[in-house]
Amino acid sequence: MRIPEDKIEEIRSSVNIVDFISGYVQLKKRGKNYVGLCPFHQEKTPSFTVSEEKQIFHCFGCHAGGNVYKFLMDFKSISFIEAVQEIAEYAGIPLEFENNRNDKDKDLTEELYEINVKAARYFSENLLKSKEGEIARNYFEKRNIKPKTQKIFGLGYALPVWDAFVNFCRENNIDLAKAKKLGLIDAKEGGKFYDKFRGRIIFPIFSPNGRVIAFGGRILEKSDKAAKYLNSPESEIYLKRKSLYGLYHSKEEIRKLDKAILVEGYMDLISLYQYGIKNVVASSGTSLTDDQARLLSRYTKNVVVIFDADAAGQKASMRSIEILLKQDFDVKILALPENEDPDSFVNKFGKEEFEEYLHKAMNFLEYQTSQFEKAGAFDDPKTYAEAIRELVKSAALVNDDLRRNLLIKTIARKFGLREKLIESELDKILEKTKRTTTIRKNRDTVNKPETNLRVTENGIDKRISNVEKELLILLFEGKQDVVKYIFDHISPNEFTNAKIKELAHLVFEGLVEGNVSTAFLISKIEDEKIRNYILTLTLSEEPISSKWADMSFSGDIEKDSLKIAMDAVKKFKLNQIDYKIKIKNNELQKLTDESSIREKLSEIRQLQENKKMLINSVEEKKSID
Ligand code: CTP
Ligand code: MN
Repeated sequence: MRIPEDKIEEIRSSVNIVDFISGYVQLKKRGKNYVGLCPFHQEKTPSFTVSEEKQIFHCFGCHAGGNVYKFLMDFKSISFIEAVQEIAEYAGIPLEFENNRNDKDKDLTEELYEINVKAARYFSENLLKSKEGEIARNYFEKRNIKPKTQKIFGLGYALPVWDAFVNFCRENNIDLAKAKKLGLIDAKEGGKFYDKFRGRIIFPIFSPNGRVIAFGGRILEKSDKAAKYLNSPESEIYLKRKSLYGLYHSKEEIRKLDKAILVEGYMDLISLYQYGIKNVVASSGTSLTDDQARLLSRYTKNVVVIFDADAAGQKASMRSIEILLKQDFDVKILALPENEDPDSFVNKFGKEEFEEYLHKAMNFLEYQTSQFEKAGAFDDPKTYAEAIRELVKSAALVNDDLRRNLLIKTIARKFGLREKLIESELDKILEKTKRTTTIRKNRDTVNKPETNLRVTENGIDKRISNVEKELLILLFEGKQDVVKYIFDHISPNEFTNAKIKELAHLVFEGLVEGNVSTAFLISKIEDEKIRNYILTLTLSEEPISSKWADMSFSGDIEKDSLKIAMDAVKKFKLNQIDYKIKIKNNELQKLTDESSIREKLSEIRQLQENKKMLINSVEEKKSID
C-alpha cells in the first residue's frame, strides 16, 4: 500500500507527540521539553526527551529518536505503514485508499510474511503429525528438546523429498516466485521448482515483533555433502544484520533482568531457555553486527558473551565484543570448558551449575589479561609492553569518556604504571582511530574556537565550524522565516562540510515543498547517525551558542531566532571573505612581476572593502533594533 506523502504529514501533524507518547511513557515537564524514563533502554534517570514545539523525541542515552511514527515503530517493532495506520486511527483520520487497494499492491512484504507463516505451520505439522516426521521427533527427543519447547519456538521438519513444499504451495495458492524469493524453494535450469530445506529440522527466525522472517534448517545426520545449517537468504523481510535469533522470545526477560546472554547457536538458545534461562539471544554463528547490538541495546546494556572454546568461536566472539564495547555495553566474557557449548553444558550439568558457572564471567580487561597471563606475555619485558598496549587498545574502543577513564585507571593500578603514561598511550591510539578524547577536545576549544566540534561518531567526518553548526541548528528549528532568510543569503552548496551540504539540501527541498517542520525533516534523514546528531543538536537544553548567552532576548522567540540567523549568516559570510583574503595573500607571496602584484593587491583591497561593508551592515541592523 502507498499512502501519499501529504496524507502522512496530515496525520502526523494532527497528533501531539507529547499526548501520544504519554500513553506509553510517563512524562514530566522540564523546561521547554518533557522528559521520562526511556522505553528503549534501561535507565534510572530520565534522558528520554520529547519536544512539543518540534514534535520529536530523542533519548540522550541510547539515541533512539525521531517523530511520532518512529516512536511507534520502535516501541512496537512495527513497519512504517503499520505505524501510520495506527496513528491515523488514533487521530480519527480515515485512510480511505486502504480499502480500494488492489491485491497486486497489497504490500509485498505482507504477502511474504504470510507465506512464511504458512510455511512455518506446514513444517511444524510435519514434525508433530506426519509419519515421516518420526525421525525428527526422535532427533529432538535425543537432544532433549521437549514438545512444549518445540512449540514455543515453532520448530518443524521439512520432508526429505524434492517437491513436498512445492506441492504445498500449489495446493495453497502460494506464489512460487515469491516462495523462491524467500529461499524456501529454488528452480532447476529447466525451470522446475524444488524444495530447499529437504530433510532438515526447521528453526523459524522471528522478528522482535514475532513475525516469521526467515528459517534455519539443520541436517539430522552429519554429512560431508550438505552444510550443517541452511539459512534463508536476505529478502524484503529479512535483513540478517538486523535480526537476532531468539530476541522475540527473550526480550521481556532481558528487560526484566537488565542483562542478556549472547550465545552462538539456535540449539544453545533453545536449550538454555528450556532450562529457564530465558534472557538469551543468538548471533547465529557469525559475529554480532552494529545493528544487532543497537537492537539489543533497547532492552539492556549488559551482555555476557559466551565463547565456544574453538578458535572460530573465539574469533567471532572477539569481534562481537568489540562491537558491543563501541556501543558502550558493559561486556562480560565467559569461556566454556573445552568441547562444550551452552547446549551441551546445560544438558550435562543442569541449570544451577550453569548459573554458578556464569559467575565466572570476567570483564573484558580481566579476560584479556588472563589470556595474556596464560600465554606468559608478562614474563618478558618486550611482550609485556605489547600486552599493555593491547589492553589500552581495547579500552580505547569504549566511547564513554568516564568509563574509558576508569578502565585506564584500572590498567594503571593493576600494573603499577603511571596513569599519565597509559593516557598518552591511549591518546596515540585514539589519534590513529580518529576518535576524540576529552583531553583533545578541550585543547581544541582553547586553541581553535572555530572548530571545536568533531563528530566522527555521528558520521559527520570533517570538523565543522561553529557557524556552520549554528546554521544547522537554525535550519532544523522548524521556522519557515528563519530557513528562508538563511537560504536567501546562503545556498546549500556553500556549506563546506559535505554532510552539512546534504542536510542543507534536504531542508532546502523542504522549504520548496512548504514544509520545514522539524518532525518532517528529521524523518527524511536516512542515515541514523546523522539523524541522532541532529536530534541531539536540536534538543540540547543549552543555548544555541554561548556567544548568545548574554544577548538580551526580547521574549519573542520567533524574532530572536531570526536575529540569531542574521548574525550567523553574517558571520558565515565574513568567514568566507576571510578565507578568500587568505588565499589571495598566499597567491600574492608567489608573485614577482609588479603589475600582477598590483592587481592582486587591489583584489584583496576590494575584499577588505566588502568585509567592512558587511560589518557595518551588522552594526546598522543592531542600531535599528
Ligand atoms: N551456523 C550456520 N551455518 C553453518 C554452521 C553454523 O548458520 N553451516 C550457525 C547456526 O546458527 C548455528 C550456529 O552457527 O546454530 C552455531 O554453529 P554450531 O556451533 O556448529 O552449531 P550448534 O548451534 O551447536 O548446533 P548443534 O548443537 O545442533 O550442533
Ligand atoms: Mn551445539
